[in-house]
Amino acid sequence: MSSHFVRMVSKKEKLMDEIMIKEKIEKGRAWLRTGYGEEDHPDYQTDQQLKKKQPPLVKEAMSENVIGLPTDFEGIEVETDFLTIVNRRSSHRVYTGESMSLKQLSYLLWCIQGVKEIRGKSYATLRTVPCGGARHPFETYMAIQNVEGLKDGLYHYLPMGHKIELLKEPEDLKGFIGTSLMGQVWAEKGNVVFYFSIVFYRSEWRYGIYAHRGLMTDAGHITENLYLALTALGLGGCAIGAVDGRYCDQVFGLDGEEESIVYAMPSGTVSEEDRQKEQDFYAFVKEQGL
Ligand SMILES: Cc1cc2nc3c(=O)[nH]c(=O)nc-3n(C[C@H](O)[C@H](O)[C@H](O)COP(=O)(O)O)c2cc1C
Repeated sequence: MSSHFVRMVSKKEKLMDEIMIKEKIEKGRAWLRTGYGEEDHPDYQTDQQLKKKQPPLVKEAMSENVIGLPTDFEGIEVETDFLTIVNRRSSHRVYTGESMSLKQLSYLLWCIQGVKEIRGKSYATLRTVPCGGARHPFETYMAIQNVEGLKDGLYHYLPMGHKIELLKEPEDLKGFIGTSLMGQVWAEKGNVVFYFSIVFYRSEWRYGIYAHRGLMTDAGHITENLYLALTALGLGGCAIGAVDGRYCDQVFGLDGEEESIVYAMPSGTVSEEDRQKEQDFYAFVKEQGL
């Protein structure tokens, strides 16, 4: 093969790459834009409009190992000044490895997905976070280690009744955490890594082809509440977009078709003394003169 031909091919391949990248970016932008006609389907009716049966509001327990959570938050040490909490909130990636209490975990779960009320007979759950159409299509899974009173393992939150269930006790829980977050091994020291899945049809039943953009908006409400609740408790966490959803689905036993993990957030006990270690994550900013 002549070097000229090789040059031609590699140039063409580069061009193809650029076209593909442009297409993917355009697809992403189109998915986000509204009012540009892409979403115009005047005859379209969602399953709710077609009077199809509504899917369940929450996922049932998958195991027999159900554990009730404390609901009395009296006596828990918590910052209550809202502005202090908002100003203190930041991402924490360094955890001390000390234990977290069950009350603290219970408080966090209540703040991110707690069910306060049912709208109608069983039309919707009203929770501690807002959600488009009150569809609340999220399920919360957790990798838990060093939480007082709980075995280390993989858990699922049952918002009706405010309980959790133990799903599995993997031998290498830390290994699971690191791999599930695309090699972000710092998270392995966290007490609770939250994994959020979406049960797609819960939202699609109401919003059909328009459901998907809003799902990611709603995911943000959950992690922001989690950030604020962690801060109020003097704990820390970090939202994670770099999640290996397929791997998480396999390990938590989700089908990946109807339900898939899309977002995560490690959390744990933190110390003011680790401030410098936290800042080291962004040492490259100074090094590269950014
Ligand atoms: C949607 C989303 C995805 C994120 N993904 C990651 C991630 O994969 N890894 C990480 O270290 N931080 C991640 N972060 C944390 C951000 O880097 C962090 O919020 C940002 O640097 C601002 O810092 P602050 O939260 O302390 O204000 C993510 C945050 C959000 C909201």
